Amino acid sequence: MLTLENISFGVKDEKGEKEIIKNLNLSIGENKFVVITGPNGGGKSTLAKLIAGIEKPVSGRILFDQEDITEKSITDRANMGISYAFQQPVRFKGIQVLDLIRLAAKRKMSAADACEYLSEVGLCAKDYINREVNASLSGGELKRIEIATVLARGTKLSVFDEPEAGIDLWSFQNLISVFERMRENTKGSILIISHQERILNIADEIVVIADGQISAQGSKDEILPKLLGTASAVDACSMFYKGEK
Ligand SMILES: Nc1ncnc2c1ncn2[C@@H]1O[C@H](COP(=O)(O)OP(=O)(O)OP(=O)(O)O)[C@@H](O)[C@H]1O
Ligand SMILES: [Mg+2]
Repeated sequence: MLTLENISFGVKDEKGEKEIIKNLNLSIGENKFVVITGPNGGGKSTLAKLIAGIEKPVSGRILFDQEDITEKSITDRANMGISYAFQQPVRFKGIQVLDLIRLAAKRKMSAADACEYLSEVGLCAKDYINREVNASLSGGELKRIEIATVLARGTKLSVFDEPEAGIDLWSFQNLISVFERMRENTKGSILIISHQERILNIADEIVVIADGQISAQGSKDEILPKLLGTASAVDACSMFYKGEK
């Protein structure tokens, strides 16, 4: 369904050209639940932005359902069926939560239906449905509302960048259930970027990205014990930097 072929991306900084994604190849099949993990600064969010079209690769191709989307805009990709939830969601001043869910769903939706998506992410819908998506929402509330909009869209590919960030411990189990239900109910693939063992634990496939490259990839049963078996996160990173698989 999604194929990244020899994708490279870099930016210019004061020291010159900085390579962030290095000739990366990745395929995500139909109806797969894939979790990307790896050390901070490894390139995970950049990769998600390249998939959503927020950034364009310097070289390489991105194929979605065999169609080359490398040059397509964010909107075109969204219309083709790619949803993206930011690591740090954007606040839309002047838009109410209800409008945002309706905009995301791209279909006529009653307030009651929209409320169901909010309940799904553990928010008491009546308290939020008419709130503005502005700075008055807490970080965790905003994050949940964004997850609700992606659920409402129900597209072929949903990309979540650290959905657990800012979600309290008590709601975390609920979040896992949200993803499990999403996997059962949505005909599509889910790509989650996460550092959380409990999210890694529900993956079909785990991809480890370090230093702009894939350092390990395989089924959960194959990769998770290797990640957990190392004494510390630092050990895990150095193991993957060495390219041990
Ligand atoms: N526009 C930019 N200009 C300069 N450096 C950038 C830019 N975007 C990303 N980077 C750098 O690229 C690297 C990868 O960033 P990215 O956000 O993709 O990491 P990540 O794997 O998502 O990390 P985290 O786990 O902390 O979220 C980092 O070193 C970051 O500082
Ligand atoms: Mg990130």
